Amino acid sequence: MSDLPPPYTALTRHPMMPRTSHDEAARFNFLTHFNRYLSGAIGKGNKLAYDKRVLPAFVEKHGREPEHRYEIRDAMNEDPWHRMWSALKRNSMEMRQHNGRQTVLRQLDELDAQARQFNEHSGMLELDPTVEQPHYQTAVDIHCQPGGYHSEERSGDVTVGANYDIGLFATTGGALGGLNDGGGQAIVEWIKKERPDWQPRRILDIGATVGHNAVPLAQAFPDAEVIAIDTAAASLRYGAARAASMGVKNIKFVQASGEDLSRWADGYFDWVQTTMFLHELSSKAMPRILAEANRVLAPGGLIFHIEQPEYTDEMPLFEQFMRDWDAFNNNEPFWSAMHGQDLKQVMADAGFARDDQFTVGVRAVVDPEIFPPSPDEGEEDFGRAAIWNAYGAWKPLAQAEAA
Ligand SMILES: C[S@@+](CC[C@H](N)C(=O)[O-])C[C@H]1O[C@@H](n2cnc3c(N)ncnc32)[C@H](O)[C@@H]1O
Repeated sequence: MSDLPPPYTALTRHPMMPRTSHDEAARFNFLTHFNRYLSGAIGKGNKLAYDKRVLPAFVEKHGREPEHRYEIRDAMNEDPWHRMWSALKRNSMEMRQHNGRQTVLRQLDELDAQARQFNEHSGMLELDPTVEQPHYQTAVDIHCQPGGYHSEERSGDVTVGANYDIGLFATTGGALGGLNDGGGQAIVEWIKKERPDWQPRRILDIGATVGHNAVPLAQAFPDAEVIAIDTAAASLRYGAARAASMGVKNIKFVQASGEDLSRWADGYFDWVQTTMFLHELSSKAMPRILAEANRVLAPGGLIFHIEQPEYTDEMPLFEQFMRDWDAFNNNEPFWSAMHGQDLKQVMADAGFARDDQFTVGVRAVVDPEIFPPSPDEGEEDFGRAAIWNAYGAWKPLAQAEAA
């Protein structure tokens, strides 16, 4: 089996997808390979450096082993191999943004016009300019994305959404499939096995960005109404146009904050979904969003979060340190604290009884002919493989109904 990621041309060209020149595609190909190489072959040098140099020196100095991932970080930040690896990784993120952004900007007139055309009559986009961008989104350029998810190059544009769509392939080493929707497809596969006859009527996806993982839910449940909310209009505009261009009709992209779902009545949704969303929330926002999610979830309904695993006591400190890289080097300010907390307790505090909660592992579902799994897949790559933990709960039916 090949260790090479698929070429950039394996991406599915839906009509909203920005076009790439030969050179732009070549740069994405380079970055895709580079990222896989950094996560795999080169990344392994970090453990070697730790075991052979950093840990023995730490023990020598302190008379004990590190007791926290931050102690490992401080020590590893002095190590030349780790510094080189970290600098290359940071550079790969910056190069990916640079290439994506310049590709989008040179065709922005066309992309904006196309988005307007798709969105004008579809009824699938509902923007609300009174929705404020949360400070935890505006304080930094999240994962080196210029302007985060919300900034506009010019009023009403789709720059950030389009850039997000074309560059994800490079960041993930091509692990999310042709439409970057391997996470959503995995959710669908899981639910169809878990509850084959379940037909949710209304699904809410919070923090949907451009809908990569909300669209597969709409496709899998064509009779359901899917509401994909996000605070960032610039991402929603692109997402709605992308979905419309793919012929999906039962999804609506709505500008709203998960912190205030007051426009929806108690128990309105059968399913509340978040995908790789919780780690971008402040510690104040997360409980508010989970409490709101609980309120709008119907008895018998499902809440399901796809995330990276939390740092439990069982997870080796070195692994916690490696998984924490994005927090300190890739503008993910809440990543470390979020993964360090007991998510089940946070869910319990929001009203999801511990007994109703479950966790399950999910792996991206992609076409293996085009996106073959890397031969390294069995080995730990510290959060870059398309493998996640899902945290969920089925809300109990009301007593009378259950009886
Ligand atoms: C990492 S992305 C989520 C990716 C997306 N779920 C997917 O599957 O492709 C985080 C998104 O959450 C949005 N966001 C942040 N705070 C929010 C809030 N309070 N309510 C709704 N969306 C929010 C951001 O604008 C951003 O688009």
